[in-house]
Amino acid sequence: MSDLMTPSVQEGDPVKVPLKPLGKVLAVTSGKGGVGKTFVSANLAAALAKRGQKVLVLDADLGLANLDVVLNLYPKVTLHDVFTGKAKLEEAIVRAPGGFSVLLAGSGMVEYSRLTPNVREDFLRVMSGLLPHYDIVLLDTGAGISDVVLFAVSLASEVLVVATPEPTSLTDAYATIKVLVGEQQRRVIRMVINQTARMGDGRAITTQLQQVLDRFVVAKPGEKVRLVHLGDIPADPSVRQAVMKRQLLIQTIPGCPAALAISQLAAKLEETLIAKPS
Ligand SMILES: Nc1ncnc2c1ncn2[C@@H]1O[C@H](COP(=O)(O)OP(=O)(O)OP(=O)(O)O)[C@@H](O)[C@H]1O
Ligand SMILES: [Mg+2]
Repeated sequence: MSDLMTPSVQEGDPVKVPLKPLGKVLAVTSGKGGVGKTFVSANLAAALAKRGQKVLVLDADLGLANLDVVLNLYPKVTLHDVFTGKAKLEEAIVRAPGGFSVLLAGSGMVEYSRLTPNVREDFLRVMSGLLPHYDIVLLDTGAGISDVVLFAVSLASEVLVVATPEPTSLTDAYATIKVLVGEQQRRVIRMVINQTARMGDGRAITTQLQQVLDRFVVAKPGEKVRLVHLGDIPADPSVRQAVMKRQLLIQTIPGCPAALAISQLAAKLEETLIAKPS
């Protein structure tokens, strides 16, 4: 078995065992819900695909999946069928309009709102099967710090926290980061501040969060937690327009401020995380 696999999970194992994260996987997560994770995941994937990267987005918000809605896709086979053994992994992979692949969960699967050993095993198996085939896998996770969300994040080598400038979003982002530092030994966390009003707002917010972390969250003596500001995405009415039409922003309105910001994020991510396509 490849070294990407973590030891198999046994019935009765404590659910918060920190896992050895898998390579080339970026978890897109947040403290508060509705801050733009799914929008960022889908459009970032399209922007990376445009740059020649082989990308897959997995709808890791298992209980309340909605990547299918955003992308206007109606797959016959979903992750649920793979988990239950009704379909092979490759049968559930769908081509999205933006030139990337998606693995959709299918919404309302109550059984995935709890982290059981089965869900963990199935998830791990799927991730290990996917990794060799992509330059990067993005996990569009749910919000918050539930077991299922934390487990999905634990599978990723890198974490991207999306927050908006609202105080509630920032306090929730801080709480999430604290848990990721404590439970998953994360030391580097990438930040995207979405729906900013002015240029530079996002960087100032990340700097503020960093200062609070430096004061109150000590990883281990001598170790620091570092927030890497990946970029801002301005509040832009075009985002809602694209979502209402169930289209990708960077395809339908590629010149709008939010689409340009996403393209810049993709370039920065490629520079720091994944090799440029040859
Ligand atoms: N930069 C932006 N400018 C304007 N509106 C935005 C922007 N980003 C997101 N939105 C709005 O916020 C809505 C919610 O975004 P999205 O569904 O991506 O959030 P989410 O974090 O995935 O939510 P959940 O926690 O429910 O999964 C979008 O449908 C869109 O209308
Ligand atoms: Mg979402």
